[in-house]
Amino acid sequence: MADSPPTAALNGPSQHTIAVRVNRISHELQVESWVSLLDLLRDKLQLTGTKKGCDHGQCGACTVLVGGRRINACLSLAVMHDGSEITTVEGLANLVTGPELHPLQQAFIDHDALQCGYCTPGQLCSAVSLISEGQARTVGDIRELMSGNLCRCGAYPQIVQAVRQVAMAGAQAKASRTARKPAAIKPVAA
Ligand code: FES
Ligand code: FES
Repeated sequence: MADSPPTAALNGPSQHTIAVRVNRISHELQVESWVSLLDLLRDKLQLTGTKKGCDHGQCGACTVLVGGRRINACLSLAVMHDGSEITTVEGLANLVTGPELHPLQQAFIDHDALQCGYCTPGQLCSAVSLISEGQARTVGDIRELMSGNLCRCGAYPQIVQAVRQVAMAGAQAKASRTARKPAAIKPVAA
């Protein structure tokens, strides 16, 4: 006797209901089990700032933040993100100062860190996460830890300068806050 067809084939497309918060807006969506997070963002939510380059985890154009951590949205299924907090390039500007640009967006402009701009949304999301991870300490760190974000236009030197400027500004602000803290009073032995 021939093998029975798989249940999924009998039942047709597999639909799932998921709830996500994207750029601080909640959505409840029906998705097929094979839809990537990238296609969910671009096709269902019309957030086309996140780019599809290779669709194979090779270029970083699709980088978004999930719970503050950078991931390649083309390599992740949407159904895996039920309950997730997602930030795309469209949500970066409000992360710090409301309607103003995120400091990294401004730094990319100031340093001419883009040409065609196709890789820029992914570069920005990746850099936001890199800085919050506290790992952008040197130019070498930035080059190494941003190496998953390719730029066909070769804007790498300017991208590194922009990321470094914002990382250093954050580190200096943190240092001055620490310096202003009163020193802990140590108990004096009797
Ligand atoms: S589109 Fe996702 S890594 Fe290239
Ligand atoms: S600015 Fe064109 S691919 Fe990076």
